[in-house]
Amino acid sequence: MAAADLTQAEYWNGEAGRRWASHQATFDGVFAPLTERLFAGADLHPGETVLDIGCGAGATTLRAAEAVGPSGRVTAVDVSAPLLAATAERVAARPAGGGAIALVEADAQTHAFARGAFDRVISRFGIMFFDESVAAFTNLHAALRPGGRLAILCWRTLAENAWIAHPLDLVRSLVPEPAPTPPDAPGPFRFAEPERLSGILAVAGFRDIAFTPVDEVLVLGRSDSGEARAAAEAAAAFSLDLGPASRLVRDQPPEIRDQAFARVQADFEARARDGAVRLAAACWLVTAVR
Ligand SMILES: C[S@@+](CC[C@H](N)C(=O)[O-])C[C@H]1O[C@@H](n2cnc3c(N)ncnc32)[C@H](O)[C@@H]1O
Repeated sequence: MAAADLTQAEYWNGEAGRRWASHQATFDGVFAPLTERLFAGADLHPGETVLDIGCGAGATTLRAAEAVGPSGRVTAVDVSAPLLAATAERVAARPAGGGAIALVEADAQTHAFARGAFDRVISRFGIMFFDESVAAFTNLHAALRPGGRLAILCWRTLAENAWIAHPLDLVRSLVPEPAPTPPDAPGPFRFAEPERLSGILAVAGFRDIAFTPVDEVLVLGRSDSGEARAAAEAAAAFSLDLGPASRLVRDQPPEIRDQAFARVQADFEARARDGAVRLAAACWLVTAVR
């Protein structure tokens, strides 16, 4: 079945969830500068209770548990069983000293969270996939204590995210153009324009809603020996096997996939500097208060 025909739960419990779970270390490495910005905005303190929405393979969950310390608590929610299983493994292997972690396999839109129980709601790219965004953010608003804060990251436009747009442009002439999705359909760029999410948050009851642009350069591939070719190979593999551009080439015949890989690798090799391929990423850090 095409990805567009799947429900979000089916999508994240299928191939996409397994891909994110088995390559969590690569995703976490590439997104590291963005994660720093999320945590700077979330401003977590020892003893706090945190709800991590769409926690995926748990990088932000572990980081939040470390920040709140042994007197704090993190509840991590995701619809994806494979991603939660990856989080559970990492939680079991973590060093002692962090806050308690509870993992919940549930839809964050409708799950009955304890009301007013959380000091913070955080999410790294986990809030753009709700079917009913107003209902979902109303539910998250009710989970926060009065004065509690939301801090989430979502992508700005595709054009501002060269780390996705550039490899897509390189392969576009080789593969059929994907069908356009309605602007409010669940997907990575759904909240690229702040007006839409800002309106949803206001209707859900949030105040002090702020959108801070986050611009970082992501390292898509690196070579320890400093070799441009090896860095380009790693970056092309990230772009075409794992990242958002991969959906265009994944179902293509092997010869098209090989041509796409060769084209992206050659371009990345030419732009590699100091053994790394770097491209720009642009997000919103969205903060709001209950
Ligand atoms: C782009 S991934 C981000 C994962 C993780 N936060 C990270 O940064 O690595 C989106 C995540 O949101 C989860 N998700 C999508 N819809 C959800 C929902 N309604 N409730 C809970 N989780 C959801 C997916 O299963 C997936 O793990």
